[in-house]
Amino acid sequence: MKEVLLSPGIYYTGVNDRKKHLFENNWPLPYGVSYNSYLIKDEKSALIDTIEYGSNDNYLNRIEKILGGASLDYLIVNHMEPDHSSMIECVLRRFPEVKIVGNAQTQKILKLYFNIPDSSLLTIKDGEELVLGEHTLSFHLIPWVHWPETMVTYEKTTATLFSCDAFGGFRTLDGSIFDDENDFEADYKGEMLRYYSNIVGKYSNMVQKAFAKLQGVEIKMIAPSHGLIWRGNPSRVLELYSKWCNWESEDGVVIVYASMYGNTAQMADHIGHLLGSRGIRVKTYDVSKTHVSYILSDIWRYKGVILGTCAYNTQMHPMMEHLCNEIKLIAPKNKILSIFGSSTWNCAGVKSLVNYAQELGMEPVCEPFEIMGSAGIEKIEAKAEDFVEKFICNYQK
Ligand code: FEO
Repeated sequence: MKEVLLSPGIYYTGVNDRKKHLFENNWPLPYGVSYNSYLIKDEKSALIDTIEYGSNDNYLNRIEKILGGASLDYLIVNHMEPDHSSMIECVLRRFPEVKIVGNAQTQKILKLYFNIPDSSLLTIKDGEELVLGEHTLSFHLIPWVHWPETMVTYEKTTATLFSCDAFGGFRTLDGSIFDDENDFEADYKGEMLRYYSNIVGKYSNMVQKAFAKLQGVEIKMIAPSHGLIWRGNPSRVLELYSKWCNWESEDGVVIVYASMYGNTAQMADHIGHLLGSRGIRVKTYDVSKTHVSYILSDIWRYKGVILGTCAYNTQMHPMMEHLCNEIKLIAPKNKILSIFGSSTWNCAGVKSLVNYAQELGMEPVCEPFEIMGSAGIEKIEAKAEDFVEKFICNYQK
């Protein structure tokens, strides 16, 4: 690979992973993912994060080639999740003199994963600096974005923020690695929101704290651990993150249903068309068909959420239950919620959805819309208009 520099002396040493099907064995990767790593070559050299073990056989050779015979002095560990850290032991074997730099929490976790002698560790405190020569690094702890030990590294001379998982996204870097040489809105924005909602969104309060910490810091470039490097317009990603971590939604409604024999599905379509006829943007998903990763992303994005299920034994449909568990985990806020569904004898699906919503503190804004037996058009029309009207009254408040 032709070497790419972020600025004089700062090399991109990341790799693309198109083999992995599921990130964290949970989230689909149709467009792959990049593990970004960076090497600063100065009087002293520093590698910032590594890559996932097994994702690229040439990683260490590339670093060695860039170093051109010089030693690797520091390995900065911003985050211990193995997508960034699982090459640490290999780095140490290749460069035995390297000091592994992390905060006290990093070192604790490091010892849980690797057998590394204390003499190879350099523990830094929040705000501490490390001078490499012309470049000076400072370290800033941002716990829970996305693990408790997570920190960012700031290079002062170039005002570059190595932001770790923050501002990252799914999708490989296929040509240029920079935002100003890619079409972010068309190709990367959706995958960035999916990454945020699936992985980081749960910790939005902590993202807000991280933002507060970085207030007043000059940032000319943002170099995250996944996805595009923000060289042209870093304020764009700061603006998006500020919205997402404050649970600001776009206008629109996500309808998600679970249906065994098509009755709940027909109700979903009817509700969607009624909302659409009122000029509201609608996205409808069959939860048994679309992976929850994509549904969660749209739930994060849009203001309205309407969940529907058939009854399944004495509960909601298991696939809807899976989605509900995932919603509970990511804990989106400021949603306008309604519920619908069908059953044959016990109304159990809708009841369990209502209970779930109440436990979550997401009280439905109107009475559920429910049908017993087949969802004939007369049955749907008798109740749907009123249900949608009440939903819209709350949605437009
Ligand atoms: Fe990209 Fe939390 O690891």
